[in-house]
Amino acid sequence: MGAEVVVEGLTKSFGSQNIWRDVTLTLPPGEVSAMLGPSGTGKSVFLKSMIGLLKPDSGKCVINGTDIVQCSERDMYEVRKLFGVLFQDGALFGSMNLYDNVAFPLREHTKKSESEIKRIVLEKLEMTGLSGAEGKLPGEISGGMRKRAGLARALVLDPEIILCDEPDSGLDPVRTAYLSQLLIDLNAQIDATILVVTHNINLARTLPDNLGMLFRKELIMFGPREVLLTSEEPVVEQFLNGKRLGPIGMSEEKDTAQMAAEQAMADAGHHHGGTEDVRGVVPQILPTPGLPERKGERRRKDRVMQILHTLPPAAQEGIIESLSEQDRQHYGVQRHASAGAQHGGGSSAPQASQGQLPADQVAQLPSHGWGTADQLRSTDEIPPGQGGAR
Ligand SMILES: Nc1ncnc2c1ncn2[C@@H]1O[C@H](COP(=O)(O)OP(=O)(O)O)[C@@H](O)[C@H]1O
Ligand SMILES: [Mg+2]
Repeated sequence: MGAEVVVEGLTKSFGSQNIWRDVTLTLPPGEVSAMLGPSGTGKSVFLKSMIGLLKPDSGKCVINGTDIVQCSERDMYEVRKLFGVLFQDGALFGSMNLYDNVAFPLREHTKKSESEIKRIVLEKLEMTGLSGAEGKLPGEISGGMRKRAGLARALVLDPEIILCDEPDSGLDPVRTAYLSQLLIDLNAQIDATILVVTHNINLARTLPDNLGMLFRKELIMFGPREVLLTSEEPVVEQFLNGKRLGPIGMSEEKDTAQMAAEQAMADAGHHHGGTEDVRGVVPQILPTPGLPERKGERRRKDRVMQILHTLPPAAQEGIIESLSEQDRQHYGVQRHASAGAQHGGGSSAPQASQGQLPADQVAQLPSHGWGTADQLRSTDEIPPGQGGAR
C-alpha cells in the first residue's frame, strides 16, 4: 500500500512573496487525490516542496514517519526514493530514446543488471501503452506519448507516492481522459498514493477520491471529492464552471469595481464564458475491466462513511447516491427520497442522509452552512486505526 502523506501548517514564501500558508491536509494511503487551483497559486511549488526540491518556511510534511521539512539530507534521500514524479513537460532527455529515458533512474539509483533493467523497462512501457515505441526519441512522438513515457519513468523505482504536475497540459480532452484512465488503472495495479495538481475540471471531477483547491495563498478545502463537487463556495463554483463572473480574476485578485462591472455585463445578457452548471457528483472512473479492484477505493469508502455525518448535506447525499444498493445496506444508509433525480447540488435534510448510523456517531451539522477552511479541513482527518501506518 502507498505511503500516507500528512501535511500540517505548511507555509512557503520566496523572499517577501508568500506563496501559500498554513496548508494542512492528509493524502490517504493508496488513494488518488487532486489539487485544483488557478494558474500561479503555487501548485507546482507545493509538489516541489513535497519532494524536497524546495524548502518550506515552516510546518510539517510527514511521510512514513519522516518530516521532510526538518530531516537530514540523508533521510531526504531515502524519502525521495518513495516518490515517482511526472513533471509538467514529461522532462524527458531529448537525446535519449524512450527505453534509455525510462531506464535512467534504474541505472542511476540501483545496481540492477541490464537484463533486470530490461525486464522492468519493458514492463512499465507496456503498462503505459508504449510497447514497441522504445526506440523512439521524445521529439518523434506525440505529447500524449511523452506524458506516458514520463509516467513510465516515474514508475520504474516502484514508487509508493506518485506526483503528477498538470498531466493534462498540452493534451486534448480525449487524450486527457485516456491519461486519467491510465492513472486509475495504475492505482488499481500498484495501490500507490497519487496526487495530481491540475486546473482541468473534467479530470478533477472524474479522477480523484479526494479533491482540494488552492486559492489566494490558502488551501480553501480538501477532502472527499463529493465535498468540493457539491460546494457552494463562490470561488469553487466559479472555477468548476470556468466563468469570468466570481472572485477569480485575470490577475490574482479581482476588485469590487471589476466585480460590479462584470455583474452588470451578466445582467445585460453577456455570456459568462464558462460551461453550463457542472456542479454535482458525477461517477468516478473505474479501473479497466480485468484489472483488480482498487484497494484504495474500498478503504476510502470505509473512511468516508465513518466521517459521513461530519460532511455537508449535499456531499452526504452525493456519497450515498454513488454507493451500490449492497453498500448502502452494508453501511446502513438510505437514499434520500428526493435524490436520484439530479446529481448533488441540492441541500437535503441531513437527518435523512444519516441513515441508521448509531446515535453517538451522528454529529450536529452546522446550522449556518459550510465552506470555511477549518470545517472542511476536519474532513481529511482519518479516524484512529483507519489511516494505516505513518
Ligand atoms: N524558484 C522560484 N523562485 C521564486 N518564485 C517562484 C519560484 N518558483 C515559483 N515561484 C513563484 O511562485 C508562484 C507560484 O508558482 P507555481 O507553483 O508555478 O504556480 P502554479 O503551478 O499553481 O501555476 C508564482 O508566482 C511563481 O512566480
Ligand atoms: Mg504549475
